[in-house]
Amino acid sequence: MHNDTIGTVMITEEQILAKADEIGKKITEDFAGEEIVMVGILRGAVLWMADLMKHVNLDMTIDFMAVSSYGAATKSSGIVKINKDLDTDIEGKSVIIVEDIVDSGVTLNYLMGYFESRGAKNVKICALLDKPEGRRVDLVADYVGFVVDDRFIVGYGLDYDQRYRNLPYITWLESN
Ligand code: IMP
Ligand code: MG
Repeated sequence: MHNDTIGTVMITEEQILAKADEIGKKITEDFAGEEIVMVGILRGAVLWMADLMKHVNLDMTIDFMAVSSYGAATKSSGIVKINKDLDTDIEGKSVIIVEDIVDSGVTLNYLMGYFESRGAKNVKICALLDKPEGRRVDLVADYVGFVVDDRFIVGYGLDYDQRYRNLPYITWLESN
């Protein structure tokens, strides 16, 4: 049953840690003097967010949300189901959404609107990976670790059927 073929190492843990340092410092500069809420999207963003937040030197809190898209037919309408909502009042605060990957952009497009409706002062996106070829809505992430080509990526939080999240590097699924 578990006979997927995994590719070679595409992005190493060292590269990801260096990127977390670089982007964390940039966020620290960009939000100087502000109070921020970093919101991780479960479950894929957990590893990246843990690395990133260690390099953010600001007055900040963290929270998590879990979301899922409705079936393929309705995906383009941008309807996203919230499985775990925020516990934090984000009114008047700067929010940084932390995601594993931006593919179609549907999920983040929805979340941007959701945070704005909850009164966030501003909303930015920080994604470990960006797959621009998958885009179906006009969405640009503010902070991107690495751009990847149109393959099914696994590892470092990203899953296939909930597996491979624990791989300490980014690779792709060759076949299954
Ligand atoms: P989007 O709404 O199409 O941008 O999808 C975002 C979500 O789909 C991400 O948070 C991932 O959970 C998942 N996803 C998209 N592409 C991949 C991939 O290549 N590997 C694993 N998960 C993916
Ligand atoms: Mg996922």
